Amino acid sequence: MSNLLSMTTSVISPNTRLMPITAEISKDNHLLIGGLDTVELAARYGTPLWIMDYATMEAAADACRRGLESYKNSQVLYAGKAFSCTAMCHIVNRLGLGLDVVSEGELYTALRSGLPHDKIYLHGNNKTDNELKMALQSGIKIVVDSLSELTRLGHLAGTLGRKAEILMRVVPGVEPNTHHYIKTGQADSKFGVTLDHVDQFVSLLKSIDTVKLIGIHAHIGSQAHDVEPYLEIVDILADVCLDLKEKHGLIVEQLDVGGGVGIAYTEADKPLSLYEWTQAIAAEVEKCFKDRSLALPQLLVEPGRSIVGPAGVTLYRAGHVKDFANGNRYVALDGGMADNPRPATYNAIYTARIANRMDARLDCSRSRSAKTALVGRYCESGDIIVRDAGIPAETGDTIVVFGTGAYNYSMASNYNRTARPACILIKDGTAEVILERETNEDLIRQDRVPSWLLEPSSAPAAGKG
Ligand SMILES: Cc1ncc(COP(=O)(O)O)c(C=O)c1O
Repeated sequence: MSNLLSMTTSVISPNTRLMPITAEISKDNHLLIGGLDTVELAARYGTPLWIMDYATMEAAADACRRGLESYKNSQVLYAGKAFSCTAMCHIVNRLGLGLDVVSEGELYTALRSGLPHDKIYLHGNNKTDNELKMALQSGIKIVVDSLSELTRLGHLAGTLGRKAEILMRVVPGVEPNTHHYIKTGQADSKFGVTLDHVDQFVSLLKSIDTVKLIGIHAHIGSQAHDVEPYLEIVDILADVCLDLKEKHGLIVEQLDVGGGVGIAYTEADKPLSLYEWTQAIAAEVEKCFKDRSLALPQLLVEPGRSIVGPAGVTLYRAGHVKDFANGNRYVALDGGMADNPRPATYNAIYTARIANRMDARLDCSRSRSAKTALVGRYCESGDIIVRDAGIPAETGDTIVVFGTGAYNYSMASNYNRTARPACILIKDGTAEVILERETNEDLIRQDRVPSWLLEPSSAPAAGKG
């Protein structure tokens, strides 16, 4: 990779940075994003507040495009599961990206936003009939995950009088070095068709005339820092393509190598840059297909986290401070696991600063045993957003947590019946709401009360009996 590294200097890959690319520190020591003072944004929009920086997403898309420049036919599909909403679909379109969706809701959002249908791909290991029907009716390509889904899809396409264009998801048996919960490419994965079942899949495919195989797909997991697993899957997928051609006469037009490139959540994280990742994959596809005398397919990559993760920060207000005799401190935030469940779910690590005192850090130069943890406000002891934040946070501070653009809003909940925060998009020095803060009324909107509960109770009154 050393010769690649020397060519990367002019391309910004935001996934290697802790902060959005427009982050600056003002004269009064406040964090600015896109030229806007985050302390003022917290006051204007309230906290917790999700912020997305357009310039950072644009730079990420550009890094992918530049990395794929030498490959003549490619498409970046943004993986919408990382962060999906109507404005994001418009951003995807504006940045020239396609979209990978995994649910009826993500597909509905994409269709309503007017994204071109030929740039949308439906994934999922257990798609509902409704999801398959929606995709068929709108001409969305479907990434088929299993033999049973293939049978079901063939039947549904027949009843709707449609022909489905599909990619087969294969399990390459390759593992990235990442958390067990976010690995998907290993042999015992719940996703996809294992290599020893590919022939069976194709035999079944040949018996179904409402489905056409146009490509193959693999995704090995998330938050991968190295390129080697990707080079390995390209090699394996090229073998699958060769087999499909030689044994079954099938030509693979689209090769989708998934997403999963990591981002820097801490200063110690050194992920492969988006530019290097895309460039290395493109070079490997050219090599592997040439070696096997196969025509080059359209190359698809599906980054999610690396497009939106670094663009996002969350602002919180610090509330109660609890000090312990050993010097440890808990600083309670006005949000927590409901707006960011990743630390509680799989020990994800984040970096935080004090947005109104950006230079304030606990002394890291000498060994520091006391820890300041940023704890959430939810009723779980495991609700800790940053275990050792290294910042002297006090009540009233505006706390900023970096790298929250991916899998925060999309994994958020209403735990403890709390309303989800607002999300604002910053571009060219202006901020606009793209997700309204939920209200208490939103929280009870779907509630229903059986009529018998509204009738006078015949239960004995308390204290009598
Ligand atoms: C099929 C598929 N493609 C792409 C992605 C995006 O991964 P990441 O957000 O890590 O880039 C995922 C994540 O789960 C996935 O399952």
